[in-house]
Amino acid sequence: MTNTVSTMILFGSTGDLSQRMLLPSLYGLDADGLLAEDLRIVCTSRSDFDTDGFRNFAEKSLDRFVAPDRLNDEAKAKFLAKLSYATVDITDPTQFGKLAELCGPVEKGIAIYLSTAPSLFEGAIAGLKQAGLAGPNSRLALEKPLGHDLASSDHINDAVLKVFSEKQVYRIDHYLGKETVQNLLTLRFGNALFEPLWNSKGIDHVQISVAETVGLEGRIGYFDGSGSLRDMIQSHILQLVALVAMEPPAHMEATAVRDEKVKVFRALRPINNDSVFTHTVTGQYGAGVSGGKEVAGYIDELGQPSDTETFVAIKAHVDNWRWQGVPFYIRTGKRLPARRSEIVVQFKPVPHSIFSSSGGILQPNKLRIVLQPDETIQISMMVKEPGLDRNGAHMREVWLDLSLTDVFKDRKRRIAYERLMLDLIEGDATLFVRRDEVEAQWVWIDGIREGWKANSMKPKTYVSGTWGPSTAIALAERDGVTWYD
Ligand code: BG6
Repeated sequence: MTNTVSTMILFGSTGDLSQRMLLPSLYGLDADGLLAEDLRIVCTSRSDFDTDGFRNFAEKSLDRFVAPDRLNDEAKAKFLAKLSYATVDITDPTQFGKLAELCGPVEKGIAIYLSTAPSLFEGAIAGLKQAGLAGPNSRLALEKPLGHDLASSDHINDAVLKVFSEKQVYRIDHYLGKETVQNLLTLRFGNALFEPLWNSKGIDHVQISVAETVGLEGRIGYFDGSGSLRDMIQSHILQLVALVAMEPPAHMEATAVRDEKVKVFRALRPINNDSVFTHTVTGQYGAGVSGGKEVAGYIDELGQPSDTETFVAIKAHVDNWRWQGVPFYIRTGKRLPARRSEIVVQFKPVPHSIFSSSGGILQPNKLRIVLQPDETIQISMMVKEPGLDRNGAHMREVWLDLSLTDVFKDRKRRIAYERLMLDLIEGDATLFVRRDEVEAQWVWIDGIREGWKANSMKPKTYVSGTWGPSTAIALAERDGVTWYD
């Protein structure tokens, strides 16, 4: 059952995320008639605009970031009319009265979206409370990063939960808004085919790669204090691990799904001082060629020495009955050769090959799920090559290839934030992250970071446009596994 709010407050509304994702997503939903006619969207930031000035600003963002086939003047005018704006210094709670005035009566609830630096969360919460905007009908959405370790994330969560209850808090991991990420649940739990093999008896190992071609350029200030482990693994990649590894939830519903995910995070085998060397590899991009052009190395972009990692590969284990002995090789990096996020599940080989005496070579089956850029599901199969087999058996690995982009070519492709914004407005928390998930993620991540520190592990330089340091290849090859590039 949905419980739709009548007002939304968007903090950080002039920021980069708002321009690229949040305003375009709200526009897209509105253009498709998915937002109530009378929904008020109160925007705020420190920038000095009045409502008309902000509407002009928002219109420019839409013109720049909404796909041209989804833009039209009538829809734009209808959406912009929903926006109002007040300049607010988040650190001054007395200024929040301006927002309360713009919100008007809020009996039907407010969805508050904090797209600001986490250092401003506490101030925002104090101001919201003082202005009477933090009542039981309010929901609070928080953007990542939620802290930089367990202690700082606890600090933020404690401050939030002094004013809001956990049920009112919607922590965002935009990967959960991606269509193909949600499709993992359908693939696993909507088909009888995979479940009997989906365990240590049927699966040899899992690979998860989130590769990016971009460097850090404008974001290097934020990123240098974070690094890939905290920026990508703690959030997006661990969520993918959870969706691959979790037990079937009883229902597609917030508590049931998140109960199962948190069990996976808690079952992650700690990587500690003794195992960081054998189970993790870190890298930092040097100069090279990416996207066909020469690019500078991380240190040159930053302008000073840094030990921040832009690449991480980890051999992880989920210590429970289902996954005992099945490694999860996960990796992510900037300035890699391609932008591609994918999951490869490699099944066990057949127990005995009847073809070996006649020279036939079998490859184990693989399920490959490409999340982006092209949404694809592929299964590798061994087939017989046509022929009379006079000189032995000839088999070949071929792929059953399902392009979701083609199958659904007539369907609108939405950006992840459209789904998340609509769920927030309607009060469905299934695709948002619960506090205990974040805590369990940080416990595992902090252990790795402590191990790096204790062993003075520094990232190895890799050439931009390559798949990270060669030690990342060795991490998998030691186990006879090749990364699927
Ligand atoms: C963000 C990270 O959360 O996700 C970025 O902070 C990263 O560093 C981005 O580039 C990747 O998102 P997507 O949707 O482009 O895969």
